[in-house]
Amino acid sequence: MKKVVLAYSGGLDTSCLIRWLKDKGYEVIAFMADVGQGSDFKKIEKRAIATGASKVYILDLKKEFVQDYVFPAIKANAVYEGKYFLATALSRPLIAKHQVNVAKKEKATAIAHGCTGKGNDQVRFEVTAKILAPHLELLAPLRTWEFKTREQEIEYAHQHKIPIDVSKKSPYSTDINLYGRSIECGVLEDPWVEPPDEIYLMTRDPLKCPNRPEYVDIEFIRGVPVKVNGKTYGPVDLVLKLNEIGGRNGVGRVDMVENRLVGIKSREIYENPAGTILITAHKELEAMVLDRETLHYKELISPRYAELTYYGLWETPLKAQMDAFINKTQERATGIVRMKLFKGSCNVAGRKSPFSRYKEELATYGDKDIFDPKLSEGFIRIWGMPY
Ligand code: ARG
Repeated sequence: MKKVVLAYSGGLDTSCLIRWLKDKGYEVIAFMADVGQGSDFKKIEKRAIATGASKVYILDLKKEFVQDYVFPAIKANAVYEGKYFLATALSRPLIAKHQVNVAKKEKATAIAHGCTGKGNDQVRFEVTAKILAPHLELLAPLRTWEFKTREQEIEYAHQHKIPIDVSKKSPYSTDINLYGRSIECGVLEDPWVEPPDEIYLMTRDPLKCPNRPEYVDIEFIRGVPVKVNGKTYGPVDLVLKLNEIGGRNGVGRVDMVENRLVGIKSREIYENPAGTILITAHKELEAMVLDRETLHYKELISPRYAELTYYGLWETPLKAQMDAFINKTQERATGIVRMKLFKGSCNVAGRKSPFSRYKEELATYGDKDIFDPKLSEGFIRIWGMPY
């Protein structure tokens, strides 16, 4: 019997998939990655077995997710099309990597996922798996199977006694992890319709936020956030803490129309409290410590880094080379940034660093000034000379 490792979520699609793959002659191993989505893994594990999986893997990948995926994206200030913090996109190469590892361990010949044929996630899972384990067969049954509607899948589940929760059917499609939440479908498909407040889970409506601003100090060491308000946190707890602080101040809501890989424009809503605070603060720190040319050069590659992530090209040479450059720039990115959060806004209030290149005696218009303005005359003449 051929063995397949299925990326399983416990939802309708992947539950039907277990049975469907078995009918196609596969032994199915269900693989679940905990990236902070808050699922009831014990319950889902039972469901996978009841549906016919021969074995279930549940891996806690939270720490690796934040350390090796989220933090590099923060160092890069990676934001796709200026708005999307890439929470879903960053999790895919990590999940694919571990799914491939399970396949190797189990001597499976195939891996499968439950992504649709018009999204980005199918590309991210499959490209990553292909790079890491070219010999594996890649199965994406949702692109070809017989079910056209959700109702047909529910009918199939009933016929085969597959346990599902049809009661809490939401009109939205969502993806959630530690770093953020993505919401689409339903009324959101009309880009003119303002998102109803019910869709948000991580962030409070700015109208209902406290009437006083909340300050939060973020300390970075070489580009990595390590303290919040003077207290040290591990990577996972630091992100959770900032989700909580940002969320209660309505920080991190994004409404965007984005360009998907397959050429479709789609409307998606995001919640990224921690990401918004961290990337805004990180940029402020860089403004203090990086020389002008490095800063400007790095600003050019941030959108490219975001694109590679969005495009599923995490495991590529260019991405690794960008990391090398970015890590070098972060040698000086140590310091504290004070942010002010207020009813959805997130602004810098102060910054300091032992590696600051800000020199008050040069910038000042007061009597501590040491800059010699007479030198500017020659500078200006030569600067403009070529033109
Ligand atoms: N558009 C985002 C991306 O491609 C999120 C995809 C998942 N979204 C969802 N609502 N299920 O990364």
